[in-house]
Amino acid sequence: PLRLAVMASGAGSNFEALARACGDGRLHGHVVVLAVNRADCGARDRAGRLGIPCQVIDHRHQPSREALDRALIRLFEAHRVDLVVMAGWMRIVTPVLIGAFPERLVNIHPSLLPSFRGADGVGQALAAGVTLAGCTAHLVTEQVDAGPILVQAAVPVLADDDRERLHARIQRQEHRILPLAVSLAARRLAQG
Ligand code: GAR
Repeated sequence: PLRLAVMASGAGSNFEALARACGDGRLHGHVVVLAVNRADCGARDRAGRLGIPCQVIDHRHQPSREALDRALIRLFEAHRVDLVVMAGWMRIVTPVLIGAFPERLVNIHPSLLPSFRGADGVGQALAAGVTLAGCTAHLVTEQVDAGPILVQAAVPVLADDDRERLHARIQRQEHRILPLAVSLAARRLAQG
């Protein structure tokens, strides 16, 4: 089985979806460690309930973005990780991390890329007045939210949507496509 690491900053619903996909055999893998950058995030509580080791690496205690990435790399190497999933990681990663896991770093973003890159993809979609929104799982490259697309899913934007309602609809799709994207990324690796 694939040895997966997950990076999260928030509620951790995508982290849990991935762990459950491993648990029920939809994904031939095992989440061996969760890295969070905030001690008080929901993802950490979920790791406790799921029995998955969780390491807090607080970005405020790191002198630079590169130093944060180096701490992540040390953690992932110690756990002999094959593939890393950014599941709501709200820090910009540098070439240090990307270079350590080439083709092995997957991100989930709450928009139909290449639309609405960066922070608040959901709010940007609402502000633009699009009637289709969605999510994208992609490989991470040095341009933010621009690496090769693995899987996308679309959802309708409804008339009375606010950010919270639309985001919830998008997240249900994220939970479905993220395990698929990780399988695809693993297959790409195996094929060289
Ligand atoms: C997800 O919707 C993910 O797409 C988004 O953060 C949310 C995390 O939810 N990521 C980004 O916006 C990255 N720029 P979760 O903590 O419940 O998985």
